[in-house]
Amino acid sequence: MEERAKEIAKKLLKCKKVHIVSHIDADGITSASIAYRALKRAGKEVSYQFIKQLEGDEIERFREENHEMIWFTDLGSGQLDSLTGIDCVITDHHEPRGNAGIPSGMHRGNILSYCNNTILELNPHRYGLDGSTELSGAGATYLVARELGDNKDLSKLAIIGAVGDLQASREGRLVGKNREILAEATDSGYIDARKDASFYGLESRPLQKLLQYASDPPLPGLSGDGTACMDFLTELNIPLKENDRWRMWYQLSKEEKRNILSAVGKRMLRYGYPPSYVESLVGEVYTFPDEEWGGMVHEAKEFSTLLNSCGRYRKGDIGLEICLGDRDEYYKKAMNLLRGHRQVLVDCMKVVKDTGIEKMENLQYFHGEDRIPDTVIGTVVGMMLGSGEVDNSLPMLGFVESVEKEGLKVSSRGTKEMIDKGLDLSVVMSECSKKLGGEGGGHNIAAGAFIPEGSEDEFLALADKMIKRQFG
Ligand code: C5P
Ligand code: C5P
Ligand code: ZN
Repeated sequence: MEERAKEIAKKLLKCKKVHIVSHIDADGITSASIAYRALKRAGKEVSYQFIKQLEGDEIERFREENHEMIWFTDLGSGQLDSLTGIDCVITDHHEPRGNAGIPSGMHRGNILSYCNNTILELNPHRYGLDGSTELSGAGATYLVARELGDNKDLSKLAIIGAVGDLQASREGRLVGKNREILAEATDSGYIDARKDASFYGLESRPLQKLLQYASDPPLPGLSGDGTACMDFLTELNIPLKENDRWRMWYQLSKEEKRNILSAVGKRMLRYGYPPSYVESLVGEVYTFPDEEWGGMVHEAKEFSTLLNSCGRYRKGDIGLEICLGDRDEYYKKAMNLLRGHRQVLVDCMKVVKDTGIEKMENLQYFHGEDRIPDTVIGTVVGMMLGSGEVDNSLPMLGFVESVEKEGLKVSSRGTKEMIDKGLDLSVVMSECSKKLGGEGGGHNIAAGAFIPEGSEDEFLALADKMIKRQFG
């Protein structure tokens, strides 16, 4: 991978101007920011744009625009064949589709550059790594940035990208190549890694909300019930406020934290949860010493949520400014978007609860019609599957009407246990959509597709059959 990163850096350094094209989520925004800063430092002219998905029309537009060089980050590998002939480099972690004409068995490392010297791709899948856990788009981009100059500080963004793509959530800590980048970042003092509660919102949510909204794993008798959470904390003698302000997890003493975690753990066991769920209450937490405690940019999960709140509403540029260091004008704008994003998610979860979940033999799904934005459907599907209120042995799919063009957006999410049993949603989304004239891809554990309007029943039948085969 390092060889390939060097080749890509060499190619970029030869250019005068580079156009960055990236995905609009947290991993995509951090990827673009890493590429942007590294290229600027190397004295290049840089432009950038964020897109939801790299699709046929979009690719043709890039071909016509005739850029000197395009750097695709956090996307591109799923569309390799269609990119042939465009001068570009790719740093991505999605499952590659297409080999630019090269037989798939042969496809490793250098072969691509050998056969098709206009495209250089760096993707962990080509090196036997799992792109959904071991390296993110931002991580792959960082490997190239490291070869472009002294850019070690950008390791911080690489970690935010990985965390934003939930790459640490399976094991409770970063693994694989991500872990190497993390070690580099902690050694240089850009990141602190500590063991702490795995809840979301350690620095941004009042205690009772932290428990109330906990979903992965859900806390029996607490998740979803604000009053129960308040009572629970009061019984443990944990003051909810200090100087009239709601207390947050990071402000608790070690002893208070221990008391809460042990009481939650005992409660889970009493409700018959497996010990592994209790263990997952604790995980690695990544924070940034150059930021202040509290708020949305000190801890990696919260930072990535802030970026998602920008990207999902087409304001990737605001997220990019925050990655580049703005804590003033753009930060304020992002905080406003975050408030909106939270409300959207609450509303969408209500929509799903109203519509209900349909079950098939090998999958479950809901249809959001036009009531869920196509940019957050993936998040909502993931939240539903983690909510503890649905069957967690079957993958979850969600359909919504696409906003920009006629058709349906499908999102799908699985769990680690399902992957271990053979599930690969990337294949399901890509193959089943292709049969209906659509397109799709992603990762084994999380993937999406675009399909023609009215084809959801056919799609479901195909997906159900294919998942059955995968589960064997
Ligand atoms: O396009 P991209 O690779 O950035 O998106 C990855 C998606 O996969 C994210 O939406 C992330 O939430 C999801 N994911 C997941 N569970 C994992 C790993 C990734 O839901 N264990
Ligand atoms: O949109 P959603 O969050 O469900 O996407 C999950 C994963 O599938 C992401 O990594 C996304 O980039 C990928 N995807 C894709 N092609 C699509 C839709 C989603 O590769 N048409
Ligand atoms: Zn990504």
